[in-house]
Amino acid sequence: MTDTQRSTVYIETYGCQMNVSDSELMLGKLTACGYDSVPQPDTADVILINTCAIREHAEQRVMGRLGEMKNRMKRGAVLGVTGCMAQRLGAQILERARHVSLVIGPDGYRELPELIDSARAGLRTTATEFDLEEHYEDFRPRRFEGVKAWIPVQRGCDYRCTYCIVPTTRGPERSRQLADVIREVHAVVESGMSEVVLLGQTVNSYFDGRHGFADLLRAVGAVPGIRRLRFTSPHPNDFSPEVIRAMAETPAVCEHVHLPMQSGSDRTLRRMLRRYSREKYLECVAELRRAIPGLALTTDIIVGFPGETEEDFSETLSAAQEVGFDDAYTFKFSPRDGTPATRFPESDRVADEVASDRLARLIATVRSGSRERNFGALGQRYEVLVEKPARRGGLLQAKTRDFKTVMLPGDQSLIGKYLMVELTGTTGSTFLARQVTERLPLPISA
Ligand code: SAH
Ligand code: SF4
Ligand code: F3S
Repeated sequence: MTDTQRSTVYIETYGCQMNVSDSELMLGKLTACGYDSVPQPDTADVILINTCAIREHAEQRVMGRLGEMKNRMKRGAVLGVTGCMAQRLGAQILERARHVSLVIGPDGYRELPELIDSARAGLRTTATEFDLEEHYEDFRPRRFEGVKAWIPVQRGCDYRCTYCIVPTTRGPERSRQLADVIREVHAVVESGMSEVVLLGQTVNSYFDGRHGFADLLRAVGAVPGIRRLRFTSPHPNDFSPEVIRAMAETPAVCEHVHLPMQSGSDRTLRRMLRRYSREKYLECVAELRRAIPGLALTTDIIVGFPGETEEDFSETLSAAQEVGFDDAYTFKFSPRDGTPATRFPESDRVADEVASDRLARLIATVRSGSRERNFGALGQRYEVLVEKPARRGGLLQAKTRDFKTVMLPGDQSLIGKYLMVELTGTTGSTFLARQVTERLPLPISA
């Protein structure tokens, strides 16, 4: 290899948007240090697997993928494991997979180029210290998508939900300075994007020492060129009246909130240490809906949490029906080592068949509600932002402000553009649409 030849890196990302954003930061750092990104691991000089530890299944997938890499990576390539599983398992990964030479947790990416150099020289390293000051402010992310930008505004989590590994893998909560976030938003607009998604584990508890989440929403929404502003995931307890007012008064804030409910049973919510009751969650929903007409709601729900009875589960079903979620990410409880939920008595364990059955019933309930609403939306007109080619049918995939997924015919030059469309069909979950040129009729009350 000559000195002028650049090295190559392949990054594969698992888990949540925070991990996607971290991968973008890592790629930015490595590109600045002489690496080119390649789309396949086979030829890469450096392979990074950015991992998730949220459920057992997520970790099993990564272990399988690491096994596969053994045969696929070229001779002399460096294989690194980053992210939440790296943080959780640390040096154990080096013991379990001899072909891995780097294990780096979410706060260790600053040293990435140096650690890779040492791995190339034959060293095997684990870097899993938390750094409460670390926001990678001087990194310039290399974004994977060109239409909307993920912007981390907070790292870590100070809640202690009893099922959750995230506080262990990401450490204590800390927020970026508002001015740094705004600087990044300006850069995003300059690069041609008009939608941003603010990221944090409990993003609406954002506090940089002087500014809260309401200030952040107003400041981001005021950046010229920002047309759509989203955030994920908020915690119901952190929706103060000021935050809700800022949402309602900031035109860029989209009419969609992803509001994890986890359970509709007070007993289960208490045992999960979610710090709200069913009633409080429903009140939060009602307040959001009062302030933001046409608000769409999506959620996360866990079934089969230790001790969950059929009665508890039926409370979850009824809460889901009462809210009428537009979509729900539903999970079977997965015990994570070291979390409080693993210390409930064995007799509390919910059998896998029972959990599977509840999961199926929950999915059916959420779907039948959203299906009905989606059929009701046919014929209506929406503004969409075209995001990418759809997977099938030579169509384009676009999103409404309220997070409906819409497929429409058109050529790729429309990607990144805003269009008015009329919904013409639905599978029950996604929509087909045609572009319309007419303007929306004025509302009758106007
Ligand atoms: N910070 C976010 C959640 C991040 S994890 C929040 O508080 O809303 C994403 C989702 O994974 C959670 O909302 C939860 O529904 C699910 N989850 C987390 N730990 C889990 C576990 N041990 N088993 C099953 N699902 C889990
Ligand atoms: Fe996990 Fe709860 Fe923190 Fe979300 S709020 S990351 S579920 S501990
Ligand atoms: Fe997974 Fe870590 Fe996100 S555990 S869900 S990648 S914060």
